[in-house]
Amino acid sequence: MRTQVGIIGAGPAGLLLSHMLHLFGIDSVIIESRTREAIEATIRAGVLEQSTVDLMTEIGAGERMEREGFVHHGFELRFAGRSHRINLHDLANGRVITVYAQHEVLKDLIALRLRTGAEIHFEARATGLVDITSDRPKIRFITKNGEARELDCDFIAGCDGGYGISRGSVPESHVRKDYFRVYPFGWFGILAKAPPSADELIYAHHDRGFALISTRSPDVQRMYFQCDPSESVDNWSDDRIWNELQARTVGNGFQLKQGPIFQKGIIPLRSFVCEPMQHGRLFLAGDAAHSVPPTGAKGLNLAAADVHVLARALSSHYATGSTDPLGDYSRTALRRVWRAQHFSWWMTSMLHRFHDGSEFDLRRQLAELDLVTTSRAAATTIAESYVGMPLT
Ligand code: FAD
Ligand code: DHB
Repeated sequence: MRTQVGIIGAGPAGLLLSHMLHLFGIDSVIIESRTREAIEATIRAGVLEQSTVDLMTEIGAGERMEREGFVHHGFELRFAGRSHRINLHDLANGRVITVYAQHEVLKDLIALRLRTGAEIHFEARATGLVDITSDRPKIRFITKNGEARELDCDFIAGCDGGYGISRGSVPESHVRKDYFRVYPFGWFGILAKAPPSADELIYAHHDRGFALISTRSPDVQRMYFQCDPSESVDNWSDDRIWNELQARTVGNGFQLKQGPIFQKGIIPLRSFVCEPMQHGRLFLAGDAAHSVPPTGAKGLNLAAADVHVLARALSSHYATGSTDPLGDYSRTALRRVWRAQHFSWWMTSMLHRFHDGSEFDLRRQLAELDLVTTSRAAATTIAESYVGMPLT
């Protein structure tokens, strides 16, 4: 089996890359370990930056998102019992965000890729990368039927997320450096059948810990609250969850609307970057190369930004024969990655309660929130980072 670009993973990074390459006239094959149904049912991120929305539209994947996504011109920072609006549209030169769930993005991309003739091997697990520093790298994988196969490629894109095999193929000695920060808390996420409690997302700071009120549709709401990462969802009845969310958002007449909870899960929070994002003919993109705490809503958007750089570098390589644009991939992508790392860490530090945090730290957080909601300069910094930098 042979292709120009072998892609491991049919998440946002792999699918977007495959379609952009297709539009540039470059062949790719995707190897994905899960079923299509499992991918389309996994609940993850929900906020698309302006650039991600523009990219989806530009590549012909934006039709349903435009119809069903919710454009938000601002969001609320809630602390000391009151909400303060960050007006994204005004502060970030008309740039805004769209709330459209990651699994809906994936449904649209898979349908588009299959309609445009893509070769996607679902339930096929990549087991090893061979000869990545030669000009004929290979992906070893096991098909759905248990057959061992090899995919010969010109290039390999490791888009296999935080727990894939690609990153491990960049040798740790001399070449690879991993930067890590693990947070002492996780997020408890729920989906509930209820009407929205507000027109825009609410990021809430509270003595009991952070809470986030987001949405999915007029009758399905997405909410999160900071929890112990070793907590079990079984310890949390619906009543206990609602009491916690109510306690963290109470004040100034705010009414959190409740309803039956039909999905619960806990995610750990960590900041991680692997440098460089390339080795030989292997290029890492998305969570395979980095992960951010979700407070800045950057994970999916960074994956899209990485593959935007990679697809254009590959296209330029095939058009000119030069390897220079590919040589710049890691440096170009990492600039945005580190900016997003800083923003995600900042939002996380400003809004969460740390176990070892003192009264001083709490007062300092409140002073910082006061600053970003009253100083136009500080609010502009938050707004520009939240809507994201334009794609490079
Ligand atoms: P992924 O979406 O992880 O896709 C990788 C794909 O590779 C998967 O489909 C996987 O099955 C496949 N794969 C892995 N190993 C192999 C193998 N050996 N062979 C073949 N295929 C393989 N971000 C936010 O901004 N907000 C959120 O609320 C949020 N919630 C999250 C909740 C969870 C539980 C997780 C894990 C992540 C969350 N994120 C969130 C992050 C965001 O979803 C990711 O940043 C985004 O999915 C990255 O896309 P990706 O394509 O790089 O990786
Ligand atoms: C959602 C997730 C986030 O991480 C975030 O910062 C905002 C919204 C969501 O799932 O809706």
